[in-house]
This record gives sequence, structure tokens and C-alpha cells, in this order.
Amino acid sequence: MAVLDHNKSQEAIDLENKYGAHNYHPLPVVLSKGEGVYVWDVEGKKYYDFLSAYSAVNQGHCHPKIVTAMTSQAKQLTLTSRAFYNDMLGKYEKYITSYFKFDKVLPMNTGAEAVETALKIGRKWAYEVKGIPENKAEIIVCENNFHGRTTTIISFSNDPVARKHFGPYTDGFIKIEYDNIQALETALNSSKNIAAFLVEPIQGEAGVYVPSSGYLAKAKALCEAHNVLFIADEVQTGIARTGRLLATCGNCSCAHKDCTEAPEVKPDVLILGKALSGGAYPVSAVLANNDIMDVIKPGNHGSTFGGNPIAAAVAIAALEVVKDERLAENAEQLGQCFRDEINAYIKTSTIATLVRGKGLLNAIVINDTEDSDTAWNICMALRDNGLLAKPTHGNIIRFAPPLVMTKAELLDCVSIITKTLGQFEK
Ligand SMILES: Cc1ncc(COP(=O)(O)O)c(C=O)c1O
Repeated sequence: MAVLDHNKSQEAIDLENKYGAHNYHPLPVVLSKGEGVYVWDVEGKKYYDFLSAYSAVNQGHCHPKIVTAMTSQAKQLTLTSRAFYNDMLGKYEKYITSYFKFDKVLPMNTGAEAVETALKIGRKWAYEVKGIPENKAEIIVCENNFHGRTTTIISFSNDPVARKHFGPYTDGFIKIEYDNIQALETALNSSKNIAAFLVEPIQGEAGVYVPSSGYLAKAKALCEAHNVLFIADEVQTGIARTGRLLATCGNCSCAHKDCTEAPEVKPDVLILGKALSGGAYPVSAVLANNDIMDVIKPGNHGSTFGGNPIAAAVAIAALEVVKDERLAENAEQLGQCFRDEINAYIKTSTIATLVRGKGLLNAIVINDTEDSDTAWNICMALRDNGLLAKPTHGNIIRFAPPLVMTKAELLDCVSIITKTLGQFEK
């Protein structure tokens, strides 16, 4: 019998607390099964998942097509490393580059690794193509960014919890205010040594901050004018989450062809992760055209697992599901419906002040001080009422369900959310 068979919630929590590093503060619910938009705890209680593993499970839990791709590849060949070729990687590289319309892809595993990869590519391009003097390259990033947890990435975070006591930090980053085009222009004019601008099209982790209309397009144009790479971190926003294939909407076949809010912005370097596997396996990727990607030569970068045959098979299946099931369109429609319904509730609410987001990446701002535990308590009550969501920075709750949700399910969730908020009204 497996060690955890028939383990009930408290026993599982105790095991994690005793034997695992305390690097997360999970909501106390112990899940043992998932299917589509639902997850079940070890006691058999069913919940709507409104986090989707931080937007990794866009295609729904245990999507049969993705699971089949993974299990059949697992029986055939799992890992060769890149010391040898394998018969899946090339197929995947052809598929993903034509899907997102870039010349080349560099496959990695986690989002943070892909961000690191993009930073390295940006720096190498700056030295070898742009001609920046050695060790002088600078990369512009935004305040309140979230790009992962490696030493370099936390070097340009301004979250004290992520940074404190992890120094010395990596140099070479200039931080500017997000959604401030003037700040970007000033930074670009401040030095001839700028290699790249790294940006989240929506700041998810910070609390789902959607930049003002036209920001991304203007930022891209400024980067172009200064011969600076525009690097889009779409680890969280990408793959249909925001109602389009990409939140930057670069050359994609999305639901937003006539979108005036964010005209097509094609990043020079695109970073993807999370939903690239539908949550089945760690798969991330950096995409760019040859003039940029060709700076990478054998030995410059890599990972034992990056581009392994299972990842390749899983990612092809996961991307096919997004198109076959029109998940971008569904996210767009359901997202609008979610914000309409919550806005109607907020009109008479004292506890919820704002709903914001795009597609099915949304947040509700709770009316309390940043350091209060009201958002956490609301998430506990949501759990009791059958829906799982988690506070993000400050008193903000992120709502990001799998994109395979139906309208009837969404309305059911809205009624759980409004009923729960009602328990907290003064
Ligand atoms: C925008 C963004 N970039 C990078 C990451 C890091 O991804 P991972 O946790 O897979 O390393 C995240 C994770 O939430 C993210 O939201």
C-alpha cells in the first residue's frame, strides 16, 4: 500500500509540515484528484479550482488528450538528454515555432529557467549583435514584477520577502514603474547600454494589474526605436488565459482580431511556461527569431531535462487542446461575464471594492488594509463553500479557473463567490 493511501487531510498536512521546507503557506486543503474544472480532497469533497495551479492548468485537470500523450510517450522514451537527438524534439520545435510564429525555440522546464534563458539571450545579443561593451549590458524591468525565484531574478524583484538575506544580488537591471511609458523612455535614453526590456503583459502575481490601453504597443515601439529587445514574460498570461492566445497578441489567431485595446505586439523574445503542458509536466520555452536566437551556441545554455521527449509530446497535445477547444474565445467570453457579475455585486458591497483582469485572469480587491487577513479568511470560507482561490499580494484574491469551464459552471461559481463575500459584509 502506498504511504499516503487513505491519509486524511490533517495527516498529510502534518507530514508536509514536518518533512518539507516551509517555503509556501498553502490553504489547508489536501487534494488527491482532479478532472476538468474540479478537484477533490482526500475526504472526497469536490471543489471548483479557481487558481489552476497559478494558470498552469488552463486545459483543465488531467485532460485526457494530454494524459494520453504523456503516458504513451512515457512507455516509449522518457529522456535522452541533449547529448543525443530524439525523435520528438524536432517535431515539437517545428510545431511550437509555427504556432507562435517565431524561427526558433529554446526548450526549458520551469518558468524561472525560461526567464533566465531570455535574460542570457538578451545579454549575449547585446554584446555580439548590438555591440555593447563587455559586462555593461543593462536590462530594464518593472517594479512589482514577478518572474520567478532564482538568484538573478530576485535581484530585480522588490518583494522584500523574496529578496531579504539572499544577496549579494546580480547587477545590470534598471527598475522602472510599470505602465509608465514616460519612465520607459527616460530609462531608454539614460544609457547606450540597454539590451532589453523585460515585462509581464499583465502583472499577475502583483495582483492582476492590467496596463493602460496601448502601453505594450508603445513600449514595443520605443524598444524598436532604441534597438532594445522587447522580452514578454507570458508564463502566466500566455496560452489563452487572458482571452487571447497571448496577452501581447503577437501574430496569433485569437479572438481579438479587432481588438483596439492592445494592437498586435510581437515580442522579440517570448517566454512561456505553465500551461504549455496543461499542468501535466514542467515545460517552458523561449521563442525568438534567428537574428536573436542564433547567438546561442553549443555549451552556452541548457538543461538535462529541457526538450525531453515527454515534454515535447505533452506540449504538442496541450497546444492542440487550446486550439481544438477554442479556449481563448471561451476565456474571453467567460471573463467578461465574470467581471459583469462581480461588478454588479460590488455596487452594493462594502467588502469588495474592485474587480479587474482580462479573460479568465481576474482579481477582486478586498476592502481592508494590506496587512489584514481578510482576503485569507474569505478564501477559507470559499473553500468551505466549495471553491478554491488564493490571496495574492496585499488584500487581493486572484480568480483564474481552468479555461474549459462552461457558462453554467461559471455562474455557479459566481454565486458561491458572492454568497461568500456576503458573509463578510458589514
Ligand atoms: C510571469 C511569471 N514569470 C515566471 C514565473 C515563474 O515560473 P515557475 O514558477 O514555473 O518558475 C511565474 C510564476 O508564477 C510568473 O507568473
